[in-house]
Amino acid sequence: MAGYLEKIEELAGQARQQIARAVSLEQLEQWRLNLLGRKGQVTAILHDLGQVSPGERPLVGKQANELKNEIGRLLEERRAALEKEQLERAAARSAIDVTLPGLRPWTGSIHPLNRTLSRVNEVLYSMGFSLAEGPEIEDEFHNFDALNTPADHPARDEHDTFFLEGGLLLRSHTSPVQIRHMQANPPPVRIIAPGRVFRRDTPDATHSPIFHQVEGLYVDENVTFGDLKYTLEQFALRLFGPDTTLRFRPSFFPFTEPSAEVDCSCIFCKRKGCRICKGSGWLEILGCGMVDPSVFEAVGYDPERWTGFAFGMGIDRICLLVHSIDDIRLFLESDTGFLSQF
Ligand code: DAH
Repeated sequence: MAGYLEKIEELAGQARQQIARAVSLEQLEQWRLNLLGRKGQVTAILHDLGQVSPGERPLVGKQANELKNEIGRLLEERRAALEKEQLERAAARSAIDVTLPGLRPWTGSIHPLNRTLSRVNEVLYSMGFSLAEGPEIEDEFHNFDALNTPADHPARDEHDTFFLEGGLLLRSHTSPVQIRHMQANPPPVRIIAPGRVFRRDTPDATHSPIFHQVEGLYVDENVTFGDLKYTLEQFALRLFGPDTTLRFRPSFFPFTEPSAEVDCSCIFCKRKGCRICKGSGWLEILGCGMVDPSVFEAVGYDPERWTGFAFGMGIDRICLLVHSIDDIRLFLESDTGFLSQF
């Protein structure tokens, strides 16, 4: 019955290898069932002992039992080792290294133009103006004719306009919103109209084909230039601070008469003269004037009864000044290095 002893020997070698190489507790359990289970290979040998000749039975029995014990021990050792590995891996996964620098969560920020726009709007809302909006694609009537700028008017050339098909154009200023609002609403009127405007300008540090304006319109009976001055002065005080002063210079716009350009005392040097105001002490911030009677006629308001003032300012320019930004093109470039500073 040398066959049994050889089989035991072979099984022993195989079992030692399998157990040593088991990579998981599930696999180890599989090997245990294969060897020591009810239908396991070692169990089978012990079952067959009755068939071994009585002379050899003690030796075969002894070897088989020793194998069973050894496998039991090896299984136990390997199980302990695998469990330890599993615990160590779990611990490594959940370990917190308190010496690592923290991760700053990336947050977006408000675009500087939106910041400036919100601030301007807030101040004007607080003074009783409310929001009006109009389309970016306009027609010649609203963008020019109704604003007292007929086709042959030289002021049209100054707005290098993007013309579209069918008499349409990209609005070159926010003033057409005045016309649309008056056509749709009876006086009195107190509105502001913020929005994008478009001009065929070659981009450089101070010119962009897309920029932003806020338009204001105030219509009532007996409105005077004094009302205009007071309103804009209050606006500037609230926007730029208590020691701000304004300077009104006579100017020309087709839709206002008289018209003025308004300078604000330099927010950097307080009129001492600096690089930003080019030594003048003043910064130009808006255009304004008393609504021309022909504009009232174009929208069906009685020019004998109604009076009003209007103003328009460039938000990009104010934003550049307030933040000392030296290139208007930065506003449209979506450069997160620039934007994350705000
Ligand atoms: N629409 C003018 C422009 O874009 C700005 C402007 C000037 C608007 C005077 C006004 C105003 O309402 O009264 O150049």
